[in-house]
Amino acid sequence: MADLSQITFDTDSGVPLYRQLADSIRTFIARGTLQSGQRLPATRELAMQLGLNRATVSAAYNMLEESGVLQGHVGRGSFVANRAAALPETGAAAMDWDSILPPLEFASGSSANIEMNLASSRPAAANFPLAAFRRLTKEVIDSPEAEHILQLGSPHGYTPLRRYLIDQAATEGIARPADDLLMTNGCQQALDLIARLFFSSDSARPVVLESPVYHGLLRVFSRSGASMIPVPVDQDGMDPDALEAAIARGNPRLAVVTPSFQNPMGTTLSLERRKRIVDLAQRSGTVLIENDIYSELRYRGKALPTLKELDPTGNVILLRSYSKVSFPGLRVGWVIGPRPFIARLAESKQISDLHSDQLSQAVLLRFAQSGELARHLQQTRVTGLRRLEAALSACEKYLPKGSSFTRPDGGMCFWIDLPAPLNAENVLARAEKRGVSYLPGTLFSNRPAHRRGLRVSFGGLTPEQITRGIKLIAEAAMEESGMLNASHRLEPAAAIV
Ligand SMILES: Cc1ncc(COP(=O)(O)O)c(C=O)c1O
Repeated sequence: MADLSQITFDTDSGVPLYRQLADSIRTFIARGTLQSGQRLPATRELAMQLGLNRATVSAAYNMLEESGVLQGHVGRGSFVANRAAALPETGAAAMDWDSILPPLEFASGSSANIEMNLASSRPAAANFPLAAFRRLTKEVIDSPEAEHILQLGSPHGYTPLRRYLIDQAATEGIARPADDLLMTNGCQQALDLIARLFFSSDSARPVVLESPVYHGLLRVFSRSGASMIPVPVDQDGMDPDALEAAIARGNPRLAVVTPSFQNPMGTTLSLERRKRIVDLAQRSGTVLIENDIYSELRYRGKALPTLKELDPTGNVILLRSYSKVSFPGLRVGWVIGPRPFIARLAESKQISDLHSDQLSQAVLLRFAQSGELARHLQQTRVTGLRRLEAALSACEKYLPKGSSFTRPDGGMCFWIDLPAPLNAENVLARAEKRGVSYLPGTLFSNRPAHRRGLRVSFGGLTPEQITRGIKLIAEAAMEESGMLNASHRLEPAAAIV
């Protein structure tokens, strides 16, 4: 039944109410809000909803029936007959896209007057090595290869870059002889292709995801229709006991794990847990997807082996990307996995977008081979450590008592839990008024969870901005809890180490 209760009237316009009502209904039909065959409310009911006389509604319906827009059936009511008859004389009417399309899955946050954006996990554009990028891009464009690069290519990606990456992964002990590599438009597309491949026709077996988990990953699997089992992440990454229980209970098809500097927690899976997770997956026949997008951004401590290296079967699927280590705007990522799997993924990619932009891939190959990537990465690690240290000291200094926060050794984000009963969504509104934004914890789960939590992304700002941003978040939290006046008495927060 159509909902017409929102219709409003202009009593000063001099246009009779029955005409105003008929015009509104006509517009609803022209824009697609009311569809052919849809029944309108009974005259008595609509008159009550709109506070009109029943005769006014009857007059509007009669007028629309006479012009062929509605059709009346005795005893059954009035129905939408014909959209064409409802269109204005020009035959054109703006579609009501909101009623035609499925609802928005997420609302974009307000960005007005945000001076310190601690919400997005992206590198600092101010640190992009632009001179090297311009020089290398020109070299690629001026080279004889340009003709080939500008032609339609293989769904697997630009061959010279693929070869470079697979050789590098083989040298690192990550890729096996039985593996192949597919270039993608970033890790995001790799996740999307994987979700489509596994869940488009059969979503009987669920997928295990970390909780909290990167919201972009959560959306991919939500849309695929897969049922999702959340497994908690703590200071040592995904909890293997909870994973074991989830496997026993749910018999999952896949588990997606971000072992290093997990988004949003920033924490890293310990070696012991890595081994256990690989073993659990192997014994249960669960496909392990290793999202390795952040591991190169280690600012302190010793690097750990990837799950793929630890897996004697070679079944682990590894995702990597140039987004966090260089330029996210170029959209270049890749997947390494057993050849039959990569062949199916490449087929799926071809259906979706034929192949990925080869110019970006050719430029990034030069960037890597020339040594500029290594130089940039080295620089990013130095500045990354400064940003991280600024963020953690600011948390110690400013967060209200009862807060806790993770202490990553790299990556771009970490997690704060505000003291109960604070709600990070409510605090965000106050923080935004002060010019700082972050992502509230509720975004990182598809269940009501992590209400006190928030993700701080520190990759794109200077240490001074980060310090100020966290101070302002702390002030917003204290204002929210009515503790502002007692701020000088607050003790440093406990860290989750
Ligand atoms: C865990 C994780 N996976 C995937 C992505 C998407 O990365 P890309 O830019 O390579 O598509 C992000 C980006 O923030 C991320 O944090």
